[in-house]
Amino acid sequence: MKILLSGIQPSGILHIGNYLGAIKQWTELQKDFQLFAMIADLHAITVPQKPDELRQNILNTTMLYIAAGIDPQKSTIFIQSHVPAHAELGWILNTMTPLGDLERMTQFKDKKEKQSEVFAGLFNYPVLMAADILLYQTDVVPVGEDQQQHIELTRSLAKRFNNKFGETFKIPEGFIPPQTARIMGLDDPTKKMSKSAASANNYIALLDTPDEIRRKVKIAVTDSGKEIVYDEEEKPAIANLMRIFAAFAGGEPDDIEKQYQGKSYSDFKRDLGELLVEKLTPLQQRYQELSEDPESVMDILRKGADHANKIAQKTLHKAQQKIGFLV
Ligand code: AMP
Ligand code: TRP
Repeated sequence: MKILLSGIQPSGILHIGNYLGAIKQWTELQKDFQLFAMIADLHAITVPQKPDELRQNILNTTMLYIAAGIDPQKSTIFIQSHVPAHAELGWILNTMTPLGDLERMTQFKDKKEKQSEVFAGLFNYPVLMAADILLYQTDVVPVGEDQQQHIELTRSLAKRFNNKFGETFKIPEGFIPPQTARIMGLDDPTKKMSKSAASANNYIALLDTPDEIRRKVKIAVTDSGKEIVYDEEEKPAIANLMRIFAAFAGGEPDDIEKQYQGKSYSDFKRDLGELLVEKLTPLQQRYQELSEDPESVMDILRKGADHANKIAQKTLHKAQQKIGFLV
């Protein structure tokens, strides 16, 4: 079975952008791939975190993975810092990463602007991500579009290492789901939906209450005109809502267009609100059950870490040998 790895930083509330762009894809792909679903806590601390909040977010992210349908019987759910090989291979790769490659990373440039002080970890973040991926001999990395550049860097580091020291790492492919790669903010369709947005009206959190979900959809920005037509250029706000609708309902935005011919924005929004409530309620129920049984969650994480450590350690050992460490 081919190997698939991805991760999310436990740095705040998860929203439907994370779900459609990432987690939902993983749950579908876990049937055909051996999935490693990581909680990227080492990445989260590249910007300042409050310790108690971080601890809670790590647990919440884990529970959301499981509640969203990542099956711990089939897939490996683990916390990045529970597998020391990530930091170790990350260091090795750092010694081979051209500074210029990191300076070109658009995510670094964006994040840098938002920090009062910028630390080296934020700059080296993509190298750690390369280590995450390469340790598992990953075939496919399903991510949102914003991570594409990091995947390219991973491929180039793997090739560089293999060329210099001999075949060590598999060269991974990114997988970016076309319709949901970039879910835009509900309050501003020109920027992606983001947990760090200034207003909570930007996103629908996976744990928003039904009333909050309905309210946020109702006040979501729309475009001029009245027609529900899928036009990314002329009607970016409605197009975004249609993509969300299609992704949750199954189908394509064009189907939604047909379905809503002659109907109003408010009809469409009312139905979208109800659809989201209907789809998120079961996830929220499972989340609630898990939060009442933290031991079972810890148990899943222990098993995940054991399995991840075995595989990661093997690859790390191979890389250490190749570069001439005494192992
Ligand atoms: P982040 O929230 O930046 O840690 O991202 C976690 C995962 O969700 C990554 O695979 C992102 O590409 C994906 N993601 C984050 N925001 C969005 C969005 N607005 N639309 C689609 N995917 C997203
Ligand atoms: N950088 C990713 C993000 O912010 C999270 C991440 C860390 C990741 N390591 C990874 C994603 C490895 C895929 C594979 O979304």
